[in-house]
Amino acid sequence: MKLLAIESSCDETAAAVVQNGRQVLSSLIASQVEEHKLYGGVVPEIASRRHVEAVAGLARQALDAAGCDWADLNGIAVTAWPGLIGALLVGVNFAKGAALATGLPLIPVHHLRAHVAANYLCHPDLTPPFLCLVVSGGHTHLVAVDDYTRYRVIGRTRDDAAGECFDKTARAMGMPYPGGVHLDAAAEAGDPAAYTLPHPKVENCPWDFSFSGLKTYVINLIHRCEQKGEAYSVPDLAASVRHHIVAILTQKTMAAAEAFGYQTVVLAGGVSANRLLRRRMQEACRQAGRRLFVPDLALCGDNAAMVGAQGYYEALAGHFAGQDLNAAATKDIEQG
Ligand code: KG4
Ligand code: ZN
Repeated sequence: MKLLAIESSCDETAAAVVQNGRQVLSSLIASQVEEHKLYGGVVPEIASRRHVEAVAGLARQALDAAGCDWADLNGIAVTAWPGLIGALLVGVNFAKGAALATGLPLIPVHHLRAHVAANYLCHPDLTPPFLCLVVSGGHTHLVAVDDYTRYRVIGRTRDDAAGECFDKTARAMGMPYPGGVHLDAAAEAGDPAAYTLPHPKVENCPWDFSFSGLKTYVINLIHRCEQKGEAYSVPDLAASVRHHIVAILTQKTMAAAEAFGYQTVVLAGGVSANRLLRRRMQEACRQAGRRLFVPDLALCGDNAAMVGAQGYYEALAGHFAGQDLNAAATKDIEQG
């Protein structure tokens, strides 16, 4: 089964052709990062306008790069939720138009399910069930993936995502958008024990996360230094923030794997590119005798190949949409 996949949930327009959910025949990304950098974050209306300009040409290029045409396809998969609504609508409407013109089936895909599925493209031997830590710019979830289209949320952030905490503390340190990757690089030269940071208290559910207190604490610390004209060490603060976030993510994920009896642990989402998170999770899984799968760096961030991977399994489960498909800014990963 060959699918054309479209992704436009945030600030990357992407198109890909994927075969049988596991083989990438082409994958193209038109990033808008340079433009949003000017504003220190994603400007939703600019994102929508750039998607409108890019999506049709990128889809054509993806078909050409895969050496196929519309007649060779079996369906069109598209990220329909969650994300920036104006951005999602562009991809969804393009996919609907393409489905109408070609008669191909339309397959709506949940963006976070797609992030999980990025792993199927790098690891032919990975199959559910497994426990997945999904860490992106907008979400932090611990999910039990019981089957390709059956998800159970074990824990989630009560407030900010880990990616948001990385990005906003990085911005306060003067790093460009998106800050996570810059903070990660700066942290390599710093002392992770230089700053003592508050440990979030999350009551009632041991698997839930909270990152807003940490984010606010670090931003206030920086503002206080700036007001008093005191210097602070960017590498040390970056290393301390990274160490703290990674320790929380690793500890909860490993404890949940133990408590729920998962032998296989998987990372997904943009933050899974974080060097320390990958190192710590490798160490923790080796010690605990569990298998760890992480996406290739090129597939951690937003791309359409992962949408084609999950789209395949949604299609096998009969999850198609008609011409009344609408995008949604929010949707639970369990609902698909
Ligand atoms: O999954 P993603 O590409 O987009 C969303 O669906 O949100 O995730 C983007 C997030 C941003 O917060 C970005 O700063 C973060 O992933 N990120 C990183 C790293 N690379 C990307 N955070 C920490 N360390 C990194 N190396
Ligand atoms: Zn994403």
